[in-house]
Amino acid sequence: MSHDERLTVVEDAEAAAQVVADLLLRLAEKELCDRPSLGVALAGGSTPRRCYELLALAVREGRASLAGWDVFLGDERVVSPDDAGSNGRMLRDTLVNGGALPAARLHRMVDAWDPTEPPEAAAERAAVRYAAALPATLDVLLLGIGADGHTASLFPGSPALQERERAVLVTHAPVEPHLRISLTPPALAAARHVVVLASGASKAAAVRSALQGTPDVQATPAQLVRHAHWVLDRPAAAQLRP
Ligand code: 6PG
Repeated sequence: MSHDERLTVVEDAEAAAQVVADLLLRLAEKELCDRPSLGVALAGGSTPRRCYELLALAVREGRASLAGWDVFLGDERVVSPDDAGSNGRMLRDTLVNGGALPAARLHRMVDAWDPTEPPEAAAERAAVRYAAALPATLDVLLLGIGADGHTASLFPGSPALQERERAVLVTHAPVEPHLRISLTPPALAAARHVVVLASGASKAAAVRSALQGTPDVQATPAQLVRHAHWVLDRPAAAQLRP
């Protein structure tokens, strides 16, 4: 494993998931030493699922605790809460149903669904509600990165990349499901501790662009968190210059 204060490279996705699970617990413990609760925003998508499974396993085995955690989402697809593509469902399945987090401490972006409501209106209403519930400063934020260099649901060229005030916005993805709700650049910038997890060769070019590319957040939104602690498996780190 190679490690400097902002970059950890491990052999494979399983090791990366374990490193991030341990890191989240350490960061949370550090913030909880003088407070009863903290706000942790977690990434969606497929990569972090194993990390959340490992967190829940550690809690079930009595090796860890998420006591005091209020879990938020970095972004959400505007789909039914029970849809297979829902990030909130993935967190419910791994952390809540995995016995690590009470349902009341998981704060979902889309927690109700009226199929008769126009989706854009429903998304805007959910974004406004979420911004009001979100802590002004997140203690810990875990993000992923897409092969196109997006993070959260801030995609290349997104108007949301210009946002300087609002913490949560409706955004649009180039892939299904197109309608999203996402933390914005100010919300990412306000977080106390930011961790980015990426694994797989498909992310190698985006990771290089995010960490070592010419500054251009419009092209590579993940450059917004260039100074986060990045945890990569070897294939995702393969194009980084030494
Ligand atoms: C989402 C995520 C998104 C994710 C990247 C990588 O809703 O898809 O929050 O930002 O981190 O798209 O996704 P994978 O982990 O599935 O590659």
